[in-house]
Amino acid sequence: MYRVSTFVTGGLAVAWVAVMTVTAGAQNPGGSPEGKAMKNPVAATAASVTAGSQLYQKNCSFCHGPKGLGDGPLAPKDMMPANLTDATWVRGSTDGEIFKVIADGAGPDFKMKGVKGRIADNDIWNIVNFVRSIGPKTGAR
Ligand code: HEC
Repeated sequence: MYRVSTFVTGGLAVAWVAVMTVTAGAQNPGGSPEGKAMKNPVAATAASVTAGSQLYQKNCSFCHGPKGLGDGPLAPKDMMPANLTDATWVRGSTDGEIFKVIADGAGPDFKMKGVKGRIADNDIWNIVNFVRSIGPKTGAR
């Protein structure tokens, strides 16, 4: 898959084609239009939130903490995982943007790696629904 971006530099349009790599789909600070355009296909039922909670405890809590406060016991020292219960979504607040952080990783430094290929999309949406359930009740979806 290719991704084409066009920059206009001093009147010259420079087309830049980057081969899609593991990092190219990164969810960087500020969020992304692709993430905003994504619709969550999995309803936030109790079953979905429970499934997401189990996946979270296994794959995420050692960094983000059992309650999502960003205080996981095994997070590498300089890391500072995000508090998932506060109202700040550095990388975008919609379900799709949260999906992209989990799937593609937290760019640009990728201290948090994406789980794409390791966890099925459907289960990533379950995790999104769980993260929503512990997160702030307001904000764009
Ligand atoms: C190795 C530690 C680590 C693991 C494991 C990890 N994260 Fe992260 N996570 C981070 C770091 C570090 C950040 C970026 C903090 C920042 O903004 O500088 C982050 C950012 C995020 C964000 C963005 C928060 C925001 O404010 O936009 C979400 C959502 C998130 N993580 C969810 C998860 C979920 C869900 C999992 C499990 C599938 C997970 N993380 C696994 C370390 C981790």
